[in-house]
Amino acid sequence: MEKAVEMIQIVKRFPQVVANDHVDLTVLKGEIHAIVGENGAGKTTLMNQLYGLLRPDSGEIRIFGKKVNFRGPRDAILMGIGMVHQHFMLVNNLTVAENVVLGSETGVGPLFDLKRARKKVLELSKLYGLHVDVDAKIEDLPVGTQQRVEILKVLYRGAEILILDEPTAVLTPQETEELFETMFKLKDTGKTIIFISHKLNEVMRVSDRITVMRQGKVTGVLKKNETDPRQIARLMVGRDVVFTVEKTPARPDGVVLKVEDLHVKDYRNLEAVKGVSFEVRAGEIYAIAGVAGNGQTELVEALTGLRKPVSGKVYFLGKDITHATPRELREMGMGHIPEDRHKYGLILQFPAYYNVILGRHYRPPFANGEFLSHSKILNFAEELLNRFDVRPNNVRMLGANFSGGNQQKLVIAREVGLEPKLMVISQPTRGLDVGATEFVHRTLIQLRDSGVAILLVSMELDEVLSLADRIAVMYNGQIMGEVEPNAVSIEEIGLMMAGHRLEEIRGRVA
Ligand SMILES: Nc1ncnc2c1ncn2[C@@H]1O[C@H](COP(=O)(O)OP(=O)(O)OP(=O)(O)O)[C@@H](O)[C@H]1O
Ligand SMILES: [Mg+2]
Repeated sequence: MEKAVEMIQIVKRFPQVVANDHVDLTVLKGEIHAIVGENGAGKTTLMNQLYGLLRPDSGEIRIFGKKVNFRGPRDAILMGIGMVHQHFMLVNNLTVAENVVLGSETGVGPLFDLKRARKKVLELSKLYGLHVDVDAKIEDLPVGTQQRVEILKVLYRGAEILILDEPTAVLTPQETEELFETMFKLKDTGKTIIFISHKLNEVMRVSDRITVMRQGKVTGVLKKNETDPRQIARLMVGRDVVFTVEKTPARPDGVVLKVEDLHVKDYRNLEAVKGVSFEVRAGEIYAIAGVAGNGQTELVEALTGLRKPVSGKVYFLGKDITHATPRELREMGMGHIPEDRHKYGLILQFPAYYNVILGRHYRPPFANGEFLSHSKILNFAEELLNRFDVRPNNVRMLGANFSGGNQQKLVIAREVGLEPKLMVISQPTRGLDVGATEFVHRTLIQLRDSGVAILLVSMELDEVLSLADRIAVMYNGQIMGEVEPNAVSIEEIGLMMAGHRLEEIRGRVA
């Protein structure tokens, strides 16, 4: 088999870590090759070198047998390499077609380019099942569609080797399935795909071979047919991973959060939450399940003060907080782990120690009047980073320089460190490796057992089923039913997720 990519003894050092420590990677032409590894293992760094964004300190890269020395992505693109990044890089107020031609203008004139681009984009989208409206503006498209645009852009530039860095982290199950179909089609036409994911079931489903990384080194190269998720997890984390969460039954106490007939509009001014009511008690995990885009985002934004509800009431420990600001809510003891950690979670240009006290930097013990106590802040931050196993545990490193998963751990550390009474959490384990996921799940159970009320919004049904004490399924802005995890079948939840009410499913018409 011809070798599409050879990365030989790649070394890449950053001031704090050796991100790639003599890494070897061989990807055969026409294969789907998965790269898995802990958060911070060096996957994105390795791919950034293959794409010309970073230069190796030492080592060699060969593309289809030819030694290359990329000075930038342009060189990599010319050699047929395309990358879809962990965080998208599209221009929001341009159309799909405009985004696709951006950066590959031929000099013949922009109008000509655009016309030709539209035609070619349509052809490519048909060929690979990447359905998009080429004239739509990026900002109006759901993430799953934006990702298709990224892939189209890469194909438009003639990529033979596609790097997909955690493409499924932001997708719904349906969108993931569509992406896999596209990947199989690409493979059928001889394209080579490098696929990064933390979800081992996905890796088992799509890949031919798997390279496992841990702390900057390769710990195994496996054939999919000769391995299983347990072995992969062990190579990733260096120990056995427990896939199920241990927990005792909840002992719920008083009502902490009460939501009454809440109506919320989305950014397009359409009603996204259409009369939702529920209660969350101290010491329980109340989960909202459902397919993404059914009002969960707007609901969470309304509860956390980021979006004004149209009508309805929200009470936090008996106090009306319907129109409270995020700062007021924080001071009352509401923690929030947001879905989009780049938008609301971290200030990337600030160091970790500042990021973990964000929201109470102006209060004792960290501040006294105008004076910030640096030693207190640094000590507190160091303790948190250690407790949450943030890597590297360097409190002075900028938010931007942590790997995707470690940024997520920073947000979780900060919010738990707040010792909240109520924790509102969206997608807590998106982008986390199996070990970190296990840790976050255990942390949430501990919080629950210490009497915190937890509202968990997750698209991962497995996560909901293993963590929740009560589950509400949301569809089209409404709650289809409220159930206990051990008194419901997966089929019933699936039907509610598709818009059937529990009463209807169980035959007692309400
Ligand atoms: N620009 C940078 N400056 C300093 N350190 C960096 C920089 N980019 C990455 N690192 C460090 O290099 C290491 C590897 O990071 P990388 O992003 O490659 O990990 P990853 O395997 O992609 O992790 P994740 O699964 O969390 O995305 C991490 O310790 C990270 O903090
Ligand atoms: Mg990464």
